[in-house]
Amino acid sequence: MISTMKSTLSYLKKLELFKELDDHKDGQFFAVADQRVKNHLPQWISFSPNIFWLKHPEEDKNLEVFGNAVEFFLKQGICRSSTIYAIGGGATTDLAGFVAATIQRGVNWVAVPTTLLAMIDGSIGGKVAVNMPQGKNLVGAFHMPERVMICGDFLGTLSESEWVSGKGEVLKYAFLSREIHDLLLRKVPIEEIALACAQFKTEVVERDFHEKGERVFLNLGHTLGHAFEFTLKIPHGHAVAMGLRYLFKVMGNDDAFAEWEQLAKALQLPLEKLELGSYRNFDLKSFLDYLEQDKKKSGTSLRLVVVKSIGNCYVEEVAMKDFKAKICAHADFKNS
Ligand SMILES: NC(=O)c1ccc[n+]([C@@H]2O[C@H](COP(=O)([O-])OP(=O)(O)OC[C@H]3O[C@@H](n4cnc5c(N)ncnc54)[C@H](O)[C@@H]3O)[C@@H](O)[C@H]2O)c1
Repeated sequence: MISTMKSTLSYLKKLELFKELDDHKDGQFFAVADQRVKNHLPQWISFSPNIFWLKHPEEDKNLEVFGNAVEFFLKQGICRSSTIYAIGGGATTDLAGFVAATIQRGVNWVAVPTTLLAMIDGSIGGKVAVNMPQGKNLVGAFHMPERVMICGDFLGTLSESEWVSGKGEVLKYAFLSREIHDLLLRKVPIEEIALACAQFKTEVVERDFHEKGERVFLNLGHTLGHAFEFTLKIPHGHAVAMGLRYLFKVMGNDDAFAEWEQLAKALQLPLEKLELGSYRNFDLKSFLDYLEQDKKKSGTSLRLVVVKSIGNCYVEEVAMKDFKAKICAHADFKNS
């Protein structure tokens, strides 16, 4: 099976989603699913023998569990024409998508994201991977889901920290798209914003599947974000919100920082938790070491996505030593 570069995005209420899933009730329904959302799902799924349940998706996103899942599905009789459903947050969809990419050289998969972050980012775009002891997402593939089924009804049980994480990625989209920026300031319901973000990413990926051009803008805020995620052990989107904040601060982009503050307030993000001063465990040396081995580093320079104005970004090559010097000179890092 050859992976296509398109996937269909659908927005469904829970009953509509159940109705679609129920169509597979009597056939072979294969899924990788997060145990945390079991109570959200139709009862027949809980009792289905073909579900590979994950207890701790981020911890389970590794080669060992990947191997167990592949073996499980082969034993259950999966074949080339089968589809694997991924029901859970971004860690679940990453693992399930990678399983789907490799079984019999690729079977179809459908994403049913259940966190805000997975709805707007993690489940979209066909980047699937597992973590390695050497770092996150180091083994993976490009394998588009045939379909992404977004159901906002899952969001009701998200923890505060998962909300912050999802909203952190929303914040990024508001710099990439004027439409999302304006929706956010109008404070429309989060489901509507989520759908606009998902649609935006879907379209970018359709135009630039292999990240040769505009897809790279989706990495806005991620260079510092990944380093915060690693050193502070905070959720991905939370780290991205901090990555954006400090990118603007360190690069002296005052207009973008003023927008950031306005948007973060509109999203009701806890501003104090997005400041370095709130973290006692911050280790500047390991933060800088992490930046050094950032995968976007080419030679001695970093490829940073920079905001010119809302909806208008470009990539700037910044010498690593200059960027590090700017970080070290910033008061928040100096006093950390
Ligand atoms: N492939 C990509 O393009 C891409 C993009 C961004 C992030 N990611 C990956 O996504 C992961 C982060 O995504 P995430 O935050 O969704 O992670 P996650 O899957 O670990 O979910 C976060 C937590 O929320 C729980 N959860 C899931 N749905 C829930 C619900 N409806 N109610 C209550 N709790 C629920 C999970 O059990 C978990 O504890 C990372 O592994 C990251 O690398 C991938």
